[in-house]
Amino acid sequence: MASFNLLFLLFLSTFEFVSAENAQLQERLFLSALGLSSRPRPSNHASVPSLLWKMFKKAEMKREESDPCTVPEYGVKGNIVRYVLDQGSMISDRSSPACMERRLFFDMSVLEDVEQLSLAQLEIKFKHNLFPTTQGAGSQAFSMQLYRVVRPTLKGMAHESSRRLFLSQSVHYIHGTIRFNLTDLAESWRRPGKNYGMVLALKSTPLGNELDQTDCSTQSSQVEIPELVATLVVVSLNPHQCRSRKKRSAHYLPVTPSNVCKPRRLYIDFKDVGWQDWIIAPQGYAANYCHGECPFPLSERLNGTNHAILQTLVHSFDPKGTPQPCCVPIKLSPISMLYYDNNDNVVLRHYEDMVVDECGCR
Ligand SMILES: *[C@@H]1O[C@H](CO)[C@@H](O)[C@H](O)[C@H]1NC(C)=O
Ligand SMILES: *[C@@H]1O[C@H](CO)[C@@H](O)[C@H](O)[C@H]1NC(C)=O
Repeated sequence: MASFNLLFLLFLSTFEFVSAENAQLQERLFLSALGLSSRPRPSNHASVPSLLWKMFKKAEMKREESDPCTVPEYGVKGNIVRYVLDQGSMISDRSSPACMERRLFFDMSVLEDVEQLSLAQLEIKFKHNLFPTTQGAGSQAFSMQLYRVVRPTLKGMAHESSRRLFLSQSVHYIHGTIRFNLTDLAESWRRPGKNYGMVLALKSTPLGNELDQTDCSTQSSQVEIPELVATLVVVSLNPHQCRSRKKRSAHYLPVTPSNVCKPRRLYIDFKDVGWQDWIIAPQGYAANYCHGECPFPLSERLNGTNHAILQTLVHSFDPKGTPQPCCVPIKLSPISMLYYDNNDNVVLRHYEDMVVDECGCR
């Protein structure tokens, strides 16, 4: 059973015998097949959100039957899930621990133009929980406002005139993660030069006054706002990498030694290609390939078309003039990949047609 690394050999031989430009071309072609314009070079390996790990493991286990073009966890169409990191900053004139204003910025240019945005969900996760009523602070709550910034402003600043209230909400205790659907807003951020980010304002306030807009200068409470992390979960669909297809049956590779057309084992190890610094998982995968003869008479097992059956017939009479049909993949299945993009965002992406399940003579 041949279990060797064709891609590795390909790269090796390219480096040894052909120009480095050629190797770069091959890498570029492979990256573009993965829907990437360049090789990501993450600077910092953020931890992988546990939900993404769960989704990846589930996709891996149910590779055969899951629909790679929907994301059931979010109930939307899509084959790419990104955890886009916040690149905003604290707004400088924070005067009280009971009040905070923070600039949020999510770089939506990581989405390619062809991608259709299905969902953008803001997740605000607090570093610790806060139940103001149990802290002896009496009848306290929090008011939370999200503002859309409508004009370019200096980093860390966003004065009243440059922001519009997007939503206002009261929160009675801070616990876990707060989520907001920002799909329409995030769609507008995709236009070049249209993304000035948001301002998140949080203030602890007496119960009953929660909807008062945050103003850090009028301070009435000592309940400190815990630190938080904001992430934009973005689900999108690349329609070019998502074609409707029939359900796949369980696949297996027969191990009978023979030289007739059949799938052969080929394991692609991303480490061998030097991609382990941006691909988080899997470390490699069984891509397989088709190889073998399509001899006359073409048996049913070889999944030949009528044309291929006739071609083998002609080939048997005239082997020099007409070649045998080719042994090619006739059934492929998808894989999922978890990786870092150039902005250090963690991305879960489903790719169709990555694994050869069956071969045929065509
Ligand atoms: C999010 O908002 C968009 C646009 O307003 C809407 O179409 C979609 O159904 C919402 N999704 C969820 C999960 O609430
Ligand atoms: C031809 O297809 C059948 C099922 O459709 C499959 O079991 C068989 O392995 C295929 N033949 C080859 C050479 O892949």
